[in-house]
Amino acid sequence: MNSLTGRDLLTLNDLSSDELTGLLDLAAKLKAGEVAPQCPGKVLGLLFSKASTRTRVSFSVAMYQMGGQIVDLNPSVTQVGRGEPLVDTARVLDRYVDAIAIRTFEQSDLQTFADCAEIPVINALTDLAHPCQTLADLQTMHEAFGQLAGLTLTYIGDGNNVAHSLMLGCALAGVHVRIATPENFEPLPEITELAKQLAGDRSDVVLTPDVKAASEGAHALYTDVWASMGQETEADDRAPIFADYQINDKLIGLADPESIVLHCLPAHRGEEITEAAMEGSHSRIWDQAENRMHAQKALLASLLGLV
Ligand code: CP
Ligand code: NVA
Repeated sequence: MNSLTGRDLLTLNDLSSDELTGLLDLAAKLKAGEVAPQCPGKVLGLLFSKASTRTRVSFSVAMYQMGGQIVDLNPSVTQVGRGEPLVDTARVLDRYVDAIAIRTFEQSDLQTFADCAEIPVINALTDLAHPCQTLADLQTMHEAFGQLAGLTLTYIGDGNNVAHSLMLGCALAGVHVRIATPENFEPLPEITELAKQLAGDRSDVVLTPDVKAASEGAHALYTDVWASMGQETEADDRAPIFADYQINDKLIGLADPESIVLHCLPAHRGEEITEAAMEGSHSRIWDQAENRMHAQKALLASLLGLV
């Protein structure tokens, strides 16, 4: 694959289609145990301003399995939490760690950090994007269908960070993407435009409020919480607006008979997805969560120049 040595992953359109495919191939090889890159002595910093289970632990375990280490830069235990300027923090951490994964609110803060640091900077989730999640999502779809190009993924719910990255990742991979949201909760117009540009004439990017039409014949049904981290106070107001935007057996019945059900987690059973859909035979949610580790190990191996 093309090495991504020294690069950043701030959004999925930092990658070309070939680079994305190369990462997914490597992730599959890592999962199968066909390759085992090592990085003894390398350290990944984790600077997380929001809660995380999967991203934090999968990055940590990926580093440990490659013989490297992580250092926790949680704002509550560093000067970041006391307001030290990001530009100063970035220039200092750049001299200590070999790469850094950042979970924060503003994409512009991630960009500022990357502008001030030479080391690879990885978006571990912002309000705008969650590219590492999409790597695992596409790996999971490829495992289920043996290909990506020509498949259809339907995302149901809020046009949020997860939806944004899925749109860009599907566009790069030639996957048709349908985004079903209530009115006024669509993805950002600039992300939709970018996804359409990246997709070109290989695949479609469709936005609709019609959740049933969007689900017909889909190969993957995907959802995420109705209110993301930082939007907790909106959750009660959003619940009635989003009530129909739920993955349940009825919607699965409209999709392709072999369709898979995906959720980035954490999930709210009974809201955006039913218990039956999470635990049913179409669900690949637990494989998807596992693939976070393989996909991010592939990303780290490539950014650290191990492959
Ligand atoms: N899907 C995901 O990013 O989960 P965490 O918030 O637990 O990292
Ligand atoms: N959209 C969710 C994703 C969590 C992994 C959030 O930002 O809270």
